[in-house]
Amino acid sequence: MLRSVTSLHRDWSFLPADDAARAGARPRGRAWTAVTLPHQHAPLPANYFSERRSQFVSWYRRHLPTPAGLGDGRVFLDFDGVMMVAAVHVNGRLAFTHRGGYVGFSVDITPFLRRRAGADNVVAVRVDARLHADIPPCGRVMDYQTFGGMYRGASLRVVPGCYLDELFVRTPDALAERNTVLATATVRNTRAADWRGAARLELYDLKDKRIAVSAPVSCAAPAGGTAEIALTLEGLDGIQLWELDDPRRYRARVVLLDGRRTADAVETLFGFREAVFTREGPFLLNGRPLKLIGLNRHQTYPYLGAAAPARLQRRDADILKYELGCNIVRTSHYPQSPHFLDRCDEIGLLVFEEIPGWSFIGDEGWKALACRDVEMMIRRDRNHPSVILWGVRINESADDHDFYTRTNALARELDPSRPTGGVRWGVNSELLEDVFTANDYAYRPPEQTINEPPVTPYLITEFGPLTDARRTAHSAVLVNFAMVHAEILNAMYGHPRVAGAIGWCAFDYHSQDWVTVDSIQPWGMCDVFRAPKLGAAVYASQLDPAVRPVLRAATRWKVGDQAGFDPNEATMKAGHDAPLVVFSNCERLRVYIGGELRGEYTPARDRFPYLPHPPFFCTGLGTLWGPSWQELHLVGLVGDAVVAEQRFPAHNDARTLAVSLDDPALRADGADMTRLVISHTDEYGNVQAHSRAAVLVDVDGPATLIGPSPLALAGGVAAVYLRAGDTPGRVTVTVRAPEFGVERRLKMKIE
Ligand code: GAL
Repeated sequence: MLRSVTSLHRDWSFLPADDAARAGARPRGRAWTAVTLPHQHAPLPANYFSERRSQFVSWYRRHLPTPAGLGDGRVFLDFDGVMMVAAVHVNGRLAFTHRGGYVGFSVDITPFLRRRAGADNVVAVRVDARLHADIPPCGRVMDYQTFGGMYRGASLRVVPGCYLDELFVRTPDALAERNTVLATATVRNTRAADWRGAARLELYDLKDKRIAVSAPVSCAAPAGGTAEIALTLEGLDGIQLWELDDPRRYRARVVLLDGRRTADAVETLFGFREAVFTREGPFLLNGRPLKLIGLNRHQTYPYLGAAAPARLQRRDADILKYELGCNIVRTSHYPQSPHFLDRCDEIGLLVFEEIPGWSFIGDEGWKALACRDVEMMIRRDRNHPSVILWGVRINESADDHDFYTRTNALARELDPSRPTGGVRWGVNSELLEDVFTANDYAYRPPEQTINEPPVTPYLITEFGPLTDARRTAHSAVLVNFAMVHAEILNAMYGHPRVAGAIGWCAFDYHSQDWVTVDSIQPWGMCDVFRAPKLGAAVYASQLDPAVRPVLRAATRWKVGDQAGFDPNEATMKAGHDAPLVVFSNCERLRVYIGGELRGEYTPARDRFPYLPHPPFFCTGLGTLWGPSWQELHLVGLVGDAVVAEQRFPAHNDARTLAVSLDDPALRADGADMTRLVISHTDEYGNVQAHSRAAVLVDVDGPATLIGPSPLALAGGVAAVYLRAGDTPGRVTVTVRAPEFGVERRLKMKIE
């Protein structure tokens, strides 16, 4: 038999309560509901909810027929992540318990299955979502919520009795004229007889064209034992590198042969690339220096907790790269969805991935689980070309020589091709890693903008002012927040020994009661719905204007709410005469007030000598910027071409309802989702940050609304999600703002 993998995201029954008798029993009574994965076990609003909401035990249950033609094959359940302790029962018997919610795990359920093909089996998973002080990241309060449930995917994997596992592909000489692929894998022989055969390595491009195949190498695995195999392809011609603007990938396939017959095969996508943190400091991608500019990402979403399906995970990668202009993301503070990482590979976004934790280190048992997390993270993700660095410390924990000697050794053994990092607070700590990765909140303008690296290679893994940068904040707060990010990025670009800087953070995120005002931490460049705030423009404007022209004024164009930076006095100013700050990647900026050209400006290169695209400071516009309130019109030029514009009206009667769906079509799999963003804007698209308009959302067709209706906008914007049903069809979404007498209709397909 050949291996097969089938998604198990459908047909689960869910009971939001503990009941030991449930492991084998039939789901009876109204308390059980039908759910699909990913699934957050407790319903959530967008904000104002305690982490305690998720602290309970629930059960998931489904039927599973015994696969036909199994013979001496093995059957695995593969879970991508279950929060926080999963006890997997099959036909009433406990098959496996996994502790820890951020790495996936597999359960060999073969001994628990009824043998007859097609026989009914019951899989029941007891999910304990409570914070367990003996499991990372728990042990103390922390600045994120863990949520709960079977919040990622699950699948059924059927393999022959002697099968392949743990494929790891390396490209040791990616920059050489002729390339090499090294593949290692484990042969697991679960049969009662020794196995003898051969294995070969095949290489394909993404159009399935076979590029090379190795000669078969003989191998043997004893009965009940394993064997490691290593296969090589050498002298490969015409290989294209995995580059950020052209991230070419290839497919490696290892085939296990019984004579000439294929006994089993495993494959993975990978890329040819060389990522080096040099001794002197600079980071090199494929031999060329690249300053790393990025943001931290938490995996949480309104209403969904961490249970966002593939499409939403993938979209976050797109937002980071295309809307925020990042070339790197840190998966703060745990391994994230495989779908997110796949998309990073696909679009060319580098990743610094780290183990679960937040400043606390537990006892020996806790540390053993953290080492297990290092191992599972690396085994899962070491074929991703996007991943360039392993975080093997608990974020911002104290030094622990023995513990971190262990995590580093483990990472180097499991993946000799990538360096280790491990995030500490500040610059005083023992370096056991290959790269000194440090959070830098030391910003003290103007003399000391960033810490001096104590050693190289050195990467800043968090920075930024921890002020409440909600869209509703006063402009003085928001402009200052954005300016500090710009200053630190400038310092990073200008420091030859700093490899890069990853700001705190990409998206507002849900956190525990003790640290938040409303369960949401407000220092994202985008809000929790992923709608951009002012800070986003600092990052986005570092993009090449040929990729995307960006022009975003740090103003609401209201006399009562104006702040800016005065370059002459080198200080922030609030008030009606504060100079206008504009974040843009244009070469020149023209400012028109009431249709009259009031000035032409160039980027503030003297203050930001290193930033690819410094902000503009529009001085000399005068008090109130004019004799009366008139329209502001900003025009951005590259060469002589107008590439970007922004306008602000001179009235307060904004009544436009902007509505957009991220995707025109979803898959009819009961789990796929897209985002519907609703904002109250003026006629030029500027979000009305203090709007409290209420909207009604109606969904007609085979899709479900995830989120409330009526829905109150938060800072002028809110989003809900639409989840596909199981049947194809057309969906009409109607959004109404009764106050404005406005109705908008959008169409979508479920296919
Ligand atoms: C850092 C921490 C982050 C986040 C940030 C802002 O110290 O590493 O996880 O909590 O502060 O609060």
